[in-house]
Amino acid sequence: MPDGETATPSRRAMLGLAACAARSAAFGYAPIARAEPAAGGLGALAAAKGLMFGASFAVQELDKPTGALYAEIYRRDAAIITTEIELKLHELRRRPGPIDFSGSDRFFDFATANGLLARGHTLIWHDYLPAWIKALPPKEAGALLEDHVAQVMRRYRGRAHSYDVVNEPIAPWDRLPDNLRAGPFLSALGEHYITRSFELARAADPGARLVLNEAQMEAETPRGLEFRASFLALLKRLKARGTPIDAIGFQSHLAAGTAYDFRRFADYIAGIADLGYDIYLTELDVDDHLLSGDIARRDDHVARLYRAYLGAVLKVPAVKLLTLWQLADSASWLQHLTGPTRRRPARPLLYDAEFVRKPAWHAVAEALLDMPAR
Ligand code: G3I
Repeated sequence: MPDGETATPSRRAMLGLAACAARSAAFGYAPIARAEPAAGGLGALAAAKGLMFGASFAVQELDKPTGALYAEIYRRDAAIITTEIELKLHELRRRPGPIDFSGSDRFFDFATANGLLARGHTLIWHDYLPAWIKALPPKEAGALLEDHVAQVMRRYRGRAHSYDVVNEPIAPWDRLPDNLRAGPFLSALGEHYITRSFELARAADPGARLVLNEAQMEAETPRGLEFRASFLALLKRLKARGTPIDAIGFQSHLAAGTAYDFRRFADYIAGIADLGYDIYLTELDVDDHLLSGDIARRDDHVARLYRAYLGAVLKVPAVKLLTLWQLADSASWLQHLTGPTRRRPARPLLYDAEFVRKPAWHAVAEALLDMPAR
């Protein structure tokens, strides 16, 4: 807490909360009138309960005219940041030859300079691959995997809190055995590519927490339930082989209009935790593209979805990390999706285009205030 800040909320903070509450109430969303964190923001609220809080971070946002505002909300609200694109194969290895670490170095340097922990996303993924890697014969793809995991993690040894070592291993639409996702690394090593990646990661940086990260399991839909079943079966096979996984990442990309039963989902993640894993919620955002009505109504609905989801999953003691997929609407990946229902700017996150807190920020703050301590 900065010098001079009192432990009890300052009059300014309370007035700030009252103003926010009034504004939020105008949306029909009346946050619990509690002490807005006088100093540390959402990261401090989370830390008080033993939870790591942050968001993905894109260094290229720093180069925009709003770069200073962008950096400021992370300093205020985040305790940890995740590489959104800087550590992906397409960014590191656009062409054969030496790895281009310029973007990832800039990310880790920002984290260090601002006292933030760093998450590396993601070492091995089927997507966002340069064409030359997609074209590799299986044997060479296997050799690349061996070299890549070791090189990247050795470079940042001791500087990363955790890595999404493998991302999104399940894809029912690929119609492969066990619903595994197609890709050059599966073609090279079969399912063993996952265990091998984690073994290399453990050897390269024993101090980093190693995460298997997956999407699409939050929904109470046939697809969501299929993902949960396939992922649990995969995890049991990986565990039986002694794969060194420390935590399971649930991406948590929610969408207004999707069917959810967050209590049942919380039971599922508690069951995963019972296998001996920490739970990380790694890419939380709320897609509002199917919502109708004005901004106030959409923001209110988004806030309620954040509140409902976090109210359920933060009850699970094994949930140790919560990171959103950006903090500000303008930086969301959802701005780049197109389609007949996506003609308006997306409003999935906690700060609007002017970097002003939205009702969703207050919903997350309330969920953190209400959650049981780890
Ligand atoms: O940086 C280039 C820019 O120079 C160029 O002008 C522009 C237009 O071609 O592209 C820019 O690169 C884009 C990059 O994001 C940075 O904005 C890539 O085309 C685009 O494909 C890339 O999308 C990212 C996507 O992963 C693929 O890496 C999204 O930002 C990122 O949010 C998204 O994140 C994924 C997670 O890794 C896994 N879970 C799902 C999540 C959302 O799809």
